[in-house]
Amino acid sequence: DLLGEIQRLEDLFTVDTAKLKEITKHFVSELDKGLSVEGGSIPMNPTWVMDFPDGHETGTYLALDMGGTNLRVCEITLTDNKSEFDIIQSKYRMPEELKTGECEELWEYIADCLKQFIETHHGDVSATEEKIPLGFTFSYPATQNYIDEGILQRWTKGFDINGVEGQNVVPMLEAALDQQNVPIKVSALINDTTGTLIASAYTDPKMKIGCIFGTGCNAAYMENCGSIPKLAHMNLDPNLPMAINCEWGAFDNEHKVLPRSPYDIIVDKESPRPGQQAFEKCIAGLYLGEIFRLILVDLHDNKEVHIFEGQDIKYLRKPYTLDSSFLSAIEDDPFENLQETADLFHDKLHLATTRHELELVRRAAELIGTRAARLSACGVAAICTKKNLQPCHVGADGSVFNKYPHFKARGAQALREILDWPAKKSFKEEDPVEILAAEDGSGVGAAVIAALTLKRVQKGN
Ligand code: BG6
Ligand code: GLC
Repeated sequence: DLLGEIQRLEDLFTVDTAKLKEITKHFVSELDKGLSVEGGSIPMNPTWVMDFPDGHETGTYLALDMGGTNLRVCEITLTDNKSEFDIIQSKYRMPEELKTGECEELWEYIADCLKQFIETHHGDVSATEEKIPLGFTFSYPATQNYIDEGILQRWTKGFDINGVEGQNVVPMLEAALDQQNVPIKVSALINDTTGTLIASAYTDPKMKIGCIFGTGCNAAYMENCGSIPKLAHMNLDPNLPMAINCEWGAFDNEHKVLPRSPYDIIVDKESPRPGQQAFEKCIAGLYLGEIFRLILVDLHDNKEVHIFEGQDIKYLRKPYTLDSSFLSAIEDDPFENLQETADLFHDKLHLATTRHELELVRRAAELIGTRAARLSACGVAAICTKKNLQPCHVGADGSVFNKYPHFKARGAQALREILDWPAKKSFKEEDPVEILAAEDGSGVGAAVIAALTLKRVQKGN
């Protein structure tokens, strides 16, 4: 019966305090492993962003954001007053077919968007002698030996473009720009989490971690060079800071601690990179709707459960047909009788729903959304524990953080449980670690990083 099914789902998806603590403890040791010479499954990539901003960075910079959902080009002017920056920007759709196509098409498309942007805002610049510097936010795991290099380790977030893994993407983009006579030079390659960290620290010095909870899920924080054994051979000043892009989506690829439902196993198996991004696949927006869909298909196919009985579920059978905004809408349904949810099922999936079915789907959405928020908190707690960061602020961005109902409150509650904070004396009191909405990482963050890089080059280190 449906009540029995709800109970089964609750058992599969609930992560209690003890489990959260166990996951966090393992997370701390995996962060350390990633920094070690042997390495671990979390890449912990050094980014060569080696300074927190002081808020006085200035100049005009071009930034490109290739995040996964959109392609965005911005021109940012930083003034000496850190609360004021000017942005002009254009968004371009990232065509679905490009995500699994050939790499030449990808670079050509991006070069084309940059060309359009420059022509719109600066007229014909093809004869310009000095190339315009660009901060390129490339939000995938990349090995960097210097700041304007990015060797793609592997595609994540469902991307699967031939000929890029193992290659430095900077010369690929620059070649496409040259071919179209666009006078742009990549001056820094940046992960969106690093951009978020730096953009947030630019306006709030208490910000110590940058997180993305969106299509993918990841974080960056500042390490000391002396605590990065895998860089020891470079004899860097041990006290110099170095931003680390954790790529924590890869946490627990070995399946040692994360709770795994049969649905998580299918999501992984059917993805272009099975065995990768185990943590991300439980949390990120790309996967939440798919986990939900797989539950419903399973319940329908189980003849003992009687869900959507006698109806054709062909629309529901299509993989990735429901994105996380579908779950958001269900969790946001204000009506006692879940009328909006019923309408959604009718309009999107051509399914009629009974009261009991609606209650089940609402509970399933809650369970998936709550698990995502609680597991996310383990990553934040792990960095705070490792670096002894309490009190601090964490800057977060991404569609799940900004739009998914209750995500913030559920995450804050989980942090409270993991880090054993006493109850607040008043609602105005801050928690020792507050996860707050970040400044625009791939715009302001990329510009500030470009400015910091320039400053470092001028200082000669
Ligand atoms: C944006 C940031 O707001 O959020 C990007 O500027 C980031 O850098 C993005 O990649 C992540 O969110 P989503 O939901 O688009 O994956
Ligand atoms: C994926 C990417 C990572 C990015 C995150 C958020 O995890 O591998 O680089 O930061 O998504 O966009």
